[in-house]
Amino acid sequence: MVNLIIDGKNVTAQKDTMVLEAARSAGVNIPTLCAHEAISRSGSCRLCVVEVKKGNRTRIVTSCLYPVEEGLIVDTRSERVQNVRRLVLELLLARCPKSEVLQKLAADLGVDPHPRFVPDTDKGKCILCRSCVRVCEEVVGVSAIGMSSRGSHKTVGPPFKEASSVCIGCGACVYVCPTGHIVMQSTGDKRKIWRRTFKMQACEKCGKYFAPVDQLKFISKKTGTPYKELAVCTECR
Ligand code: SF4
Ligand code: FES
Repeated sequence: MVNLIIDGKNVTAQKDTMVLEAARSAGVNIPTLCAHEAISRSGSCRLCVVEVKKGNRTRIVTSCLYPVEEGLIVDTRSERVQNVRRLVLELLLARCPKSEVLQKLAADLGVDPHPRFVPDTDKGKCILCRSCVRVCEEVVGVSAIGMSSRGSHKTVGPPFKEASSVCIGCGACVYVCPTGHIVMQSTGDKRKIWRRTFKMQACEKCGKYFAPVDQLKFISKKTGTPYKELAVCTECR
């Protein structure tokens, strides 16, 4: 265990814990966008910045990637932290002015919802955090989506912006996306996502459509479980 101070509070945390988790366990809230428990950390949104002090040295770091250390002094609300956090949010808002999540954060942090930076192209609500790409690769194991183009034209989606032949329609990307950029529509026996329409499986017991056939086939192949056993929704199992 290591002892540190967060916003003046003495906190004990397990070695290898990140400052973000140590702060949360001490009841200190740090805003985040890209840190999701289902995937590895990338430190891409930069919203979780805090100030750390070691000896005479003070630095701004991303709390989701910065491990706790004995004697570390952390300030999550200093003037410097708030200024950096507001600037980060302004830049994210400039990219995605329509994002309700960013607008709400802006209101919470006292940032003008009409930022001084002007977006050059419409990127929808995507902040390019790659959380969707990582969950598809790390958790689902399919890698149906990725980043394409560069600079301000960078976007996320299936290769060549075409319907992906490997996507199984599971929606894990929707689940981890912090801004609600990815659109998934499930109606009756169909689910639409990433330019593809998937046929849904009806539960063999209650008849409710609950998962794409392609997803169940994928799980069946991967785990060796007969498809028939998977064709029952979680409530009826
Ligand atoms: S679609 Fe969502 S999860 Fe994927 S990169 Fe954009 S903001 Fe992040
Ligand atoms: S939550 Fe830490 S960089 Fe996004």
